[in-house]
Amino acid sequence: MMTSTFQTVDPCIFVIFGASGDLTARKLVPAMYEMARAGLLPKETRILGVARREKTDDQWREELEPWVRKHNPDMDESIWRDLAGRIHYQSADATTEEGMAAVGTRIAGIDTEAGTCGNLLFFLSVASSLYEPIVQRIDLAGLVVEGKRWCSLEPSKASWQRIIVEKPFGENDQSARALNRTLGRAFEEESIYRIDHYLAKEVIQSLLVFRFANILWEPVWNQQYIDHVQISAAETVGVGQRTAFYDQTGAIRDMIQSHLFQVLAFVAMEPPTDYTPEHIRNEKVKVTDAIVPTPADRVAEFCALGQYGPGEDGDPGYAGSEGVAPGSTTETFAALQLQFQNWRWAGTPFYLRSGKRLAEKRTEVVIQFKPPAANLFRKLPITADAGRLEPNRLVFTVAPHEELSLRFETKRPGLGIRVDPIDMVAALDRDPDEPVVEAYGPLIIDAMRGDQTLFKSRIEVESAWDAVMPFLDDRSAVARAGIKDNYGPGSWGPESSRELLARHGRRWYEEERS
Ligand code: BG6
Repeated sequence: MMTSTFQTVDPCIFVIFGASGDLTARKLVPAMYEMARAGLLPKETRILGVARREKTDDQWREELEPWVRKHNPDMDESIWRDLAGRIHYQSADATTEEGMAAVGTRIAGIDTEAGTCGNLLFFLSVASSLYEPIVQRIDLAGLVVEGKRWCSLEPSKASWQRIIVEKPFGENDQSARALNRTLGRAFEEESIYRIDHYLAKEVIQSLLVFRFANILWEPVWNQQYIDHVQISAAETVGVGQRTAFYDQTGAIRDMIQSHLFQVLAFVAMEPPTDYTPEHIRNEKVKVTDAIVPTPADRVAEFCALGQYGPGEDGDPGYAGSEGVAPGSTTETFAALQLQFQNWRWAGTPFYLRSGKRLAEKRTEVVIQFKPPAANLFRKLPITADAGRLEPNRLVFTVAPHEELSLRFETKRPGLGIRVDPIDMVAALDRDPDEPVVEAYGPLIIDAMRGDQTLFKSRIEVESAWDAVMPFLDDRSAVARAGIKDNYGPGSWGPESSRELLARHGRRWYEEERS
């Protein structure tokens, strides 16, 4: 078995801005517990939570414990006690000079006592409007001291300071570029970790292995053999309590520009020379770069947008939910058709789709091949579907379970020739005896090891924004007109989504399955 090289995890202080927030309690600290349980955290590692509210280290530890236990009902008390003893809290307004000075003093004290060698991993778990003010304060307070570590003579002896930035990474092309500039003034690009939890998903990572550790697929992985690709993330949940955030965001920003573009890059990229962050990231950038800009006057032709209506379960529908602006045209469903201008994919559309309150929780990648060049069996009266051969299809299912399936035609056993499709299915689920780990943990460990393979680069984020802007700005007005209540909860989205594919004689995968 070959595994990726495991660089050591350097001891550091993991500084979380936004310690009182939901993400910290629900995801980050449980993830750190899991990494400690897996023996991946050096004993010197410390966690320092920063938020405005006054509280002591002990109070914060007590608040966190039930969250860790909820995530890990079989929590190992001694591992938690050991980790809890390494968790600290600093009350401060990190957007102010005094606040960041207090954080700096606390960091210095913990570093001396714990021996974290000046290594700092910052995590921005705050409202995105606070990203830039906090990064500026980190810079002004002189907390980033590493300089150009990549060219230092003995990089392993130099301390490092890195930052993990959560999505939303900007709200459009302009604000993303502004945020990148602010980050770039304080940190080297190699120290900026733009996180995306989709890259921690087992099946998404296995896409690269599937494509590049086998000889079978690469020769047919192009426009000559692949008819189209569908990348879908369907959710049954609505927007719940997050209307204030969601009404400013919508499905394209929340899911497509971020998560689904990462999946797209893994499906569409050229083979990298090597499994290193530089090679992988360079190839991913080329993918978004090759997307054909959607023509300004034809945006409605390349997308289907929707908003769910009221449900029988008492759900008031998106427009009727508290916190949604009257007449809001924010999309809770989006399906986009993207085209590429490169040799591998010219002419093969990629359909990216995500929505709330849909029929099923399903995240999947469907690679639909073209039919065989000629149908040898066309005159036989006994082919399954009036002489039509089913195209081959590969489906990577990410949720609700992890699975890979390949559809191909076979001869039905018995007299004569009857052509029938079958699905060969491989379970990709992890070993049921292995504890499930929160996606953030392995990514945070990667950042502690200095491995950027599964993080997004500046250029990649910016070109993903460029590709979706036509669907977000004034150009999308026609596609947004009348989207209110245009699909029912429990459906697969608005009729326009079906039409988007039907225009070219295609169907979404769920129609093929049923
Ligand atoms: C988050 C979005 O990034 O991803 C949520 O903000 C969405 O709206 C979630 O529900 C989906 O993640 P997953 O892993 O369940 O597909």
